[in-house]
Amino acid sequence: MPSFCEKYAPITLNMLIGNRNQIDRLINYGAEVQSGKKQRPLLIYGPTGTGKTAAAHAFAYSNGFEIIEFDASDYRDAETLQKRLLPATTSRNLFGSKVIIIFDEIDEISARFDKGIEGILTKLFRESKSPVILTANDYWSRSLVFLREYVERIEFKKPSAKDVVSLMNNILAKEGISMDKATVDIIANRANGDVRAALNDLEAMVDASPELLEHLGMRDRKVETFAVLDKIFTSKKLASRSVALASGIDKDMLLKWIDQNIPVRYLSKKDVANAYSVLALASRFNNNATRTNYYGYLRYSNDLMSGGVSLQNTGYISTINPYLFPSVIRYLSTTKAERQYIKEIAGKLSPVFHVNKKEIVNGYMPLLKLMMESGESSYGKDETMAFMEKHFNLESDEADFIKERGKNQ
Ligand SMILES: Nc1ncnc2c1ncn2[C@@H]1O[C@H](COP(=O)(O)OP(=O)(O)OP(=O)(O)O)[C@@H](O)[C@H]1O
Ligand SMILES: [Mg+2]
Repeated sequence: MPSFCEKYAPITLNMLIGNRNQIDRLINYGAEVQSGKKQRPLLIYGPTGTGKTAAAHAFAYSNGFEIIEFDASDYRDAETLQKRLLPATTSRNLFGSKVIIIFDEIDEISARFDKGIEGILTKLFRESKSPVILTANDYWSRSLVFLREYVERIEFKKPSAKDVVSLMNNILAKEGISMDKATVDIIANRANGDVRAALNDLEAMVDASPELLEHLGMRDRKVETFAVLDKIFTSKKLASRSVALASGIDKDMLLKWIDQNIPVRYLSKKDVANAYSVLALASRFNNNATRTNYYGYLRYSNDLMSGGVSLQNTGYISTINPYLFPSVIRYLSTTKAERQYIKEIAGKLSPVFHVNKKEIVNGYMPLLKLMMESGESSYGKDETMAFMEKHFNLESDEADFIKERGKNQ
């Protein structure tokens, strides 16, 4: 059965909610293209779930174009892209219909940046007879600088909660489902302009448990995260899975939270060990999903990280200590100057340990901190510092920084 998002994806540009002026521009652009005028490619950018990809598709349907679409998996290297582009560069396909070339999530090229890709794209922009639409989250992304002089940009903003509510009500009416106004409002507010999230929540609500209803009342993502963690760590049943799944928390993020907090909640060493094994498995499925683009694997990782972790609970838990923020969030909550400094130190340590900077920050710095603490209590400060300098090339203020970091968190 198609999801609400699929089933109610807009077919015409006017079916999109929000972004009135932007939609009008797209409609005009269509008319200009139809009149045979060569147009600059369009770059639609803005927050997730606001309808960028949907708009590109609706544009194509409305103008009778056949879609040739590229996504993140095509931006890995120039050769793949070139190969896939070949059939697209003639303006009509085999059967004579007109084509539009869509580069979805073009900012993904930053990940594994291949310089050749820039050249291929700019050449296409200059020569293509077919219209080109690109979508991205962040126009200011450094990987998109080369695009700026070529494209006309359209910024999508988050649709208002009011617009989201009316879209949801339309869908409810078509589905013949009644839902109380308060719940519809909560879902719309919680989505905060992410229409995809709103429609997914709406769908989940259709046969929701009281647990889920209660859960949806919590709009603040942090509170929500804590509530989900509570459910996972205090329950001994698989049921925690439904709460985790229904929450709007990003599953990768949730995995990091669980990772950080297993030892905070579970007291028995055996439970901790078992919970980590299950989590490791969850993480493996997660990785497989991204690597193979087969998202069916997420079903297993979601179940393992939530219900799977709950099942390891043999009853020895502590609820005294507050949850720890995952180290990634801790890192992001530090100031920019601090982050810059951390990066510099990580850059220095990276060749020493032969791991990347991220690994240094998340994995090695906490260990170095521990080393220094225990070194100082056994050998004194000077000796410890001399050791850090000799072996890791660290200067004293850098060592102090590592030691002090994260003290108040
Ligand atoms: N403005 C909108 N009007 C109507 N439906 C929308 C709108 N935005 C999103 N949707 C619904 O949400 C689904 C997902 O939206 P879409 O894929 O277009 O988001 P996006 O902006 O491309 O997000 P991302 O940045 O994550 O790629 C659509 O298929 C549609 O069902
Ligand atoms: Mg998209």
